[in-house]
Amino acid sequence: MFVNDCLNVNKKGHLTIGGCDTVELAKKYGTPLYVLDENVIRNTCKAYVDSFKRHYDGKGLPLYASKALSCKALCEIAKEEKMGLDVVSGGELYTAISAGFPVEKIHFHGNNKTYDELCFAVDSNIGKIVVDNLNELETLDSICAKKNRVQKISMRIKPGVDAHTHSFIKTGQIDSKFGFALETGEAIDAVKEAIELKNVELTELHCHIGSQIFDIEPFVTAAEVMMDFIGTIKDETGYIVTELNLGGGFGIKYTDKDNPTAYDNYMKAVSNAVHAKAEEHGLPVPFVYIEPGRSIVGEAGITLYTVGAVKTIPRVRTYVSIDGGMCDNIRYALYQSEYTVVTANKADLEPDFVVTIAGKCCESGDLIQENTKIVEPVPGDTLAVLSTGAYNYSMSSNYNRIPKPPIVLVNNGSDKLIVRRESYEDLIKNDLDL
Ligand code: LLP
Repeated sequence: MFVNDCLNVNKKGHLTIGGCDTVELAKKYGTPLYVLDENVIRNTCKAYVDSFKRHYDGKGLPLYASKALSCKALCEIAKEEKMGLDVVSGGELYTAISAGFPVEKIHFHGNNKTYDELCFAVDSNIGKIVVDNLNELETLDSICAKKNRVQKISMRIKPGVDAHTHSFIKTGQIDSKFGFALETGEAIDAVKEAIELKNVELTELHCHIGSQIFDIEPFVTAAEVMMDFIGTIKDETGYIVTELNLGGGFGIKYTDKDNPTAYDNYMKAVSNAVHAKAEEHGLPVPFVYIEPGRSIVGEAGITLYTVGAVKTIPRVRTYVSIDGGMCDNIRYALYQSEYTVVTANKADLEPDFVVTIAGKCCESGDLIQENTKIVEPVPGDTLAVLSTGAYNYSMSSNYNRIPKPPIVLVNNGSDKLIVRRESYEDLIKNDLDL
């Protein structure tokens, strides 16, 4: 009935998630409220881990891309599910370490890691730093030299693959701020330099072609291009890169129009390509990593809001204003992302009323969805926006000094607060008096 399997409707006609009544959750914790179904997250992690057993004989590891949603509880779940972790800032690294995440299973990304972040990562003994550019390679080597350390590194390569997704979240093509380009010779030159450096050890190559991708083919092409490059490195230098990180990007369901294939299908097709290319180039099959973020938490999450003003402008449209907005979900304002919206306390009725969902920020573009069909709401009703587990809380802001919502984890009818609601005191805690 709904895009997400964890959702249902109970006898009262209320939307449920993970067996919990969303209207009761809204009452208990207040709104706006992020809710995550723990089972969906854990089952997706398990599916990825199992996929590696099936398609790579266990010689691989899925890393949870914590930029999708970083908080201590999520790091703990990823750890318990035997995942690795992709972090992209000192803050995400600090969160992971605070959660007791095994440092050797952390990969540190980013196109402009600061000197302090690099030192923090090296001092924390993290598994891998994914080097993005020559400045960083040289800085990292000199940091490690001073600390008398050898840091394992990966190098981010642009495989030149154009994935069919929104231009802001496409990264594999030559005109991208991320990584070394293959076509220009930049990548091979950088690899040769890295091999010569004494305080970094190049073991892995990395690529990430974009996000919210449904086709299998660009993932297969990227894997082939990367394996060919590992072959070129061997031919030109004799050096064997033994690990390959193929990034994240698997699409999820936001509306009925989205039709993601089972993730195991990507894994199988990519694994076939990796194995075939290893044979073609006389290479050992590399240890493979992937970095799913959205597909682990996206469909597991919903956001609950309370309806405030309902404003009908004759012959124009009806605005339904909610008590959150672009401060907790900026994705429509940024990418015109489509979402399914449900009137949670009338979830058993047929949606037949076209509305625009507006946030409460002082900004005309603060919309969550335009021209979407829901059950006609009145002030006080609960609205649920579906598939908000990824890139909502993690991209939230305090615009208009609006406190960030809490996160509640639900599991088979029980609920647990994992991130507290920000208070007004939190908002001013770093402000100093004149
Ligand atoms: N690995 C790397 C190096 C990445 O840059 C990303 C996402 C991932 C993994 C995880 O990709 P996923 O599996 O989540 O698609 N804010 C945008 C998405 C930006 C993605 C950035 N990188 C959005 O809300 O759609």
